Amino acid sequence: MPKVLVTHQLPGEQVHQLPDHCDMNVWMGPGLLPASSLRDELTDCEGLLCLLTDRIDEALLDANPQLRFIASMSVGVDHIDVKAATARGIAVGNTPGVLVETTADASFALLLAAARRLVEADHFVRGGHWRVENAWSPEFFTGKDVAGATLGIVGLGEVGQAVARRAAGFGMKVLAWNRSARNVPGVEMVELDDLLADSDFVSINVALGEETRNLIDARRLGLMKRDAVLVNTARGGIVDEVALAEALSHDRLAAAGLDVFEREPVPDDHPLLSLPNVVATPHIGSATLATREKMADMAALNMLAALGNEKMPNCVNPEVYQS
Ligand code: DGY
Repeated sequence: MPKVLVTHQLPGEQVHQLPDHCDMNVWMGPGLLPASSLRDELTDCEGLLCLLTDRIDEALLDANPQLRFIASMSVGVDHIDVKAATARGIAVGNTPGVLVETTADASFALLLAAARRLVEADHFVRGGHWRVENAWSPEFFTGKDVAGATLGIVGLGEVGQAVARRAAGFGMKVLAWNRSARNVPGVEMVELDDLLADSDFVSINVALGEETRNLIDARRLGLMKRDAVLVNTARGGIVDEVALAEALSHDRLAAAGLDVFEREPVPDDHPLLSLPNVVATPHIGSATLATREKMADMAALNMLAALGNEKMPNCVNPEVYQS
C-alpha cells in the first residue's frame, strides 16, 4: 500500500478510513511536526496530509520525488509552493466552503471587540482598576459605533460575502474591492484606495498570493481614516505590520483586530502586541469544533480520492489531471 504521512492527529470521521487504503503514519507529537523532521518523515511517502503550519517548499518536494499528492487541512495554500507541486504533477487539495461562516463570525467578533475596546476593558476589570472613584464617566472606555458605519471588505470571496451579510444586520453601508468583478446585492464595488479612504472599518478577507502580499502597505494605511479600525482574519503577509504598528501607535488609526500575522506564532516582542488598541488572537478564525471536523473530513476525502486514483474533490491545481 502507498505510504501517507499525516502531520497531526485529526478530528472528524473520514480520517479513520485512510488506514484501509494506505500505510498511514500519523505524527503523534508532542506538538507540531518540526520542519526539520518533515523531510525525514516524508521519506517514501506518496501522500501528505498536512496543516497550514507545515511549509511545503520546492526543496522539500525535490527531496521527495515520490510524492504524488498533498491534501491540506486548510483553505489557504500559501504554505505550499503550488507552482512547484504542479510542475511535478503533484495534486494539491484544500478545504474551501466549510469554514466560511465560522471565519466571518471571527472577523465580526474582532471588529466588535476592537471597536468597543472589549479586551482592554476586560483587562481593566480583572486588573483591579475598576474602582468607586472611576466607576463610570462620560468618556470612560468610549469606542466607536458599528451600527450604521461604513465597512470596507477587501476580498469579496465567500468569507467576504459572509462578512457583508453580518454587516447588513448592523445597518452598515458595505463597500468592497475584489480582484475580479463581483455583483453582490447590497455591496458597492469600489477601487481599493477609495475603499480605504471611505471606510470606518476595513476587513481583510482576501487570500495571500503574489498579488496580495503587502497589499495594505504604508501608503494604503495612510489613506485610512484616523479613527478607522482594521480587521484581518485572512493572512498576515497582506498587511505591512511595521507600518500598521506605526499608524496605531501614532493615532493615525484607531484600532486593529488581528487573527493572523506575518510570522506565526507572532514573536512576544512584536511591536503590535505592546499596543492597547490591538486585539490579537492566535489564528483561530475557523476554530470551532464543528468546522474543524468538516475541514479534517474534506482533507481526508481529498486524500482518499487521490489514493483511489481519482481527482481530489477540492483541488487547487486541477491542471495536474490534464497530463
Ligand atoms: C485556512 O484554512 O486557510 C484558515 O486560515 C484556517 O483558519
